[in-house]
Amino acid sequence: MRTVRFPAGSREYDVIIGNGAVSVLSGEIKKLCPGAVKALIVSETNVAPLYLEKVRDELTKAGLETADYVFEAGERSKGIEAVAAMWNKMAEAGFTRTDIVIGLGGGVTTDMAGFAAATFLRGINVIQVPTSLLAMVDASIGGKTGIDIPMGKNQVGAFWQPSLVVEDTSFLKTLPDEVFTEGMGEVTKHAFIMDPVLLEKLEKANGNIRDDEDLLEEIVAMNVADKASVVKEDENDNGRRQILNFGHTVGHVIERDSGFTKPHGICVAKGMGLIMDACVRAGTLSPDDAKRMKDLLMLYGLPVSDDITPEAIVKGAMNDKKKRGGLISVILVNEIGKAEIKKMTPEEFMGFLSK
Ligand code: GLY
Repeated sequence: MRTVRFPAGSREYDVIIGNGAVSVLSGEIKKLCPGAVKALIVSETNVAPLYLEKVRDELTKAGLETADYVFEAGERSKGIEAVAAMWNKMAEAGFTRTDIVIGLGGGVTTDMAGFAAATFLRGINVIQVPTSLLAMVDASIGGKTGIDIPMGKNQVGAFWQPSLVVEDTSFLKTLPDEVFTEGMGEVTKHAFIMDPVLLEKLEKANGNIRDDEDLLEEIVAMNVADKASVVKEDENDNGRRQILNFGHTVGHVIERDSGFTKPHGICVAKGMGLIMDACVRAGTLSPDDAKRMKDLLMLYGLPVSDDITPEAIVKGAMNDKKKRGGLISVILVNEIGKAEIKKMTPEEFMGFLSK
């Protein structure tokens, strides 16, 4: 088991990572939330049958009364109706400011649980218990919470840091292969933008990290530490944190245009591949480095391209929250391990993407 301290500006907290880590929950809750009486467990229909009772037992051990809200698994549930149902559950059960929301699931769950906690009574504690690789290395840490609206993903939300994140890597054993692969989109992203040591480790593992418990724990912890070092400097995403959006400007458009049927991590991988191609064409990224990064994506079963047109990307990016004023923040990797934020007009972005 390892602990990575996450210093996020408005709140500093532990991310506890390891096989069986869920068993620390009761002790940590007693320590961190001594005034808590009730907890709402937010989960979804795939995860709840597997892990909800385990988490409930931990909360009961900590002396808490529990309620739960289980929604239909999938990005389509990530809307205001689900969050309103969570608010109502908490209000009906008489939750107060010292009570807790527990997010038990993947990124959709931790984003919505975090948003419900951020907004109920103007903010109560949230403890995240991510069950997918993507949520462990990205979505559940760093305090971005929110929901989708028809015009785009995560368009409504709040920065609200958890009080604790417990990442039980044994939960990854039940993850379908394609969902594990999706998480590798964010893992490889961290390697490309800031962590050549992680990149080498992933290359050396030759695509096999899932069944090696120690390696998996180490890789998850490296990703959490990478993200912590970025969020520490820029909690509210006005500067360096934007490098974490590598592949996302394009990826979010592909994802939204598919009606959210294509998985997020897969779309991010496609987005990273398309930006790498554009950097090579612009002469700023060496073909060898691009090949090395794309080979790594493919080694872990991820795509590196998509047939989306530059016109569709630019049109979609204009509605994205990564747009500031008339400019689109495009994240480039021109050297492995170093990302840069380039502000482009829509015309410049179109030229950059066009073959
Ligand atoms: N997922 C990117 C971020 O947390 O900033």
